[in-house]
Amino acid sequence: MKVTVIGGGYVGLVTGACFSHLGNEVLIVEKVPEKVEQLRQGKSPIYEPGLDELLKEGIEKGTLLFTTDIKEGVDFSEVIFICVGTPSLPDGSADLSQVEEVARLTAKNMNSYKLLIEKSTVPVNTHQLVKKTVQRYLNRDVPFDVASNPEFLREGSAVYDFLNPDRIVVGVESERAREIMEELYRPLTEKGFPLLITDPATAELIKHASNSFLAMKISFINMVADLCEKTGADVELVAEGMGYDRRIGREFLNAGIGYGGSCFPKDVKAFIKIAEDVGLDFGLLKEVEKINSERITRFLEKVLNALWTLKDKKIAVWGLAFKPNTDDIREAPSLRIVPELLKKGAKVFAYDPQAVENFRRIFPPGEDLIYTGDKYEAVKSAEALLILTEWEEFAKADMEKVRELMELPVVIDGRNVFKPEKMRELGFEYYSIGRA
Ligand code: UDX
Repeated sequence: MKVTVIGGGYVGLVTGACFSHLGNEVLIVEKVPEKVEQLRQGKSPIYEPGLDELLKEGIEKGTLLFTTDIKEGVDFSEVIFICVGTPSLPDGSADLSQVEEVARLTAKNMNSYKLLIEKSTVPVNTHQLVKKTVQRYLNRDVPFDVASNPEFLREGSAVYDFLNPDRIVVGVESERAREIMEELYRPLTEKGFPLLITDPATAELIKHASNSFLAMKISFINMVADLCEKTGADVELVAEGMGYDRRIGREFLNAGIGYGGSCFPKDVKAFIKIAEDVGLDFGLLKEVEKINSERITRFLEKVLNALWTLKDKKIAVWGLAFKPNTDDIREAPSLRIVPELLKKGAKVFAYDPQAVENFRRIFPPGEDLIYTGDKYEAVKSAEALLILTEWEEFAKADMEKVRELMELPVVIDGRNVFKPEKMRELGFEYYSIGRA
């Protein structure tokens, strides 16, 4: 099948590359010409495991094409995925201007049936607005449908998630749209991955409800971690004990310095606003946000408790990305923690396997902020090591060597990467989250 994907960001690239891998002919429409040039050479502008290989495969087979021209995209196929950004506005609601633009430009350029599919996360009933916009700008009588097909992929395992989904959710209003979506996803449903067909409003809501629920799980366990610290219990074991209950499940019960990234913070905010717009107060989610925000304060308290003052202290930071296996720093705890350390007079030596480039664009290196190309270099004569992202290479680090390199063996681990007993045995003064 021919597929057009509008937007060459995380979602668009993964969607396009995976649909091409599944045997479709895909055209990705991306506004930024330099990005298109780069993509045509098979170079992904983002770091995502497996994506480069799929881009290369699609380009070599000729089933993955790129353009800056939306008209070309609309002409290319009857199936058009909307994968543009829907960032937060200051009031927490989603900025849908890019979705509106795609609807408008599709309407102006279409001469035959089109199925417009929202893949970007949008508030419930956005499909109505997309429909209305297409109708308004359509100057011929051309049939079309609007569907919702939210993506649930996680950064760092996006390609895997796309090809091995827990579920595929499709919200449609016509038989024609339903058949197209079923055919498109057949390679996955044939393997047994479940496909849930709903109306578009339900599909749209499933996305916000899912992400908000997961964020709630994280804030819940983080609050339990605070309780553990006050009472001498161990949050890891509490999570394990809770997780055996199949109604709860162990996933997303890792205590730490809070959720970040491009989805959870934005989606929780949007869901609160969606409820507010229809006269409902989703107070539960407001509390989820509050607990999440307090993680940074709690972590900095730990740092101060361990070091007393930060002025002129040499502090190593391991991890800048909002989570491992990505170079993404959007809403990463590091964005709040590092400037706070600098403000208090510390000299920061930061290392991340992938995210340094992005981070230094916001915080350029200087006398007090040094980026190192290696984790051991960062800890040389440091008076504390802070762990902000649980990259596997940190868990595998030679901690004896780290202890020898450090001036003081103080580790404040925001992601519970290490076992407290082991760290103590190695001679570290070790602080973590929700554990003695
Ligand atoms: C999330 C959803 O998982 C995905 O389904 C949706 O499509 C997009 O948003 P992503 O933002 O890529 O994906 O990352 P995810 O792995 O879900 O982690 C989100 C944040 O929660 C990270 O900051 C992570 O560190 C944090 N987290 C996750 C925890 O603090 N504890 C956990 O137990 C799990």
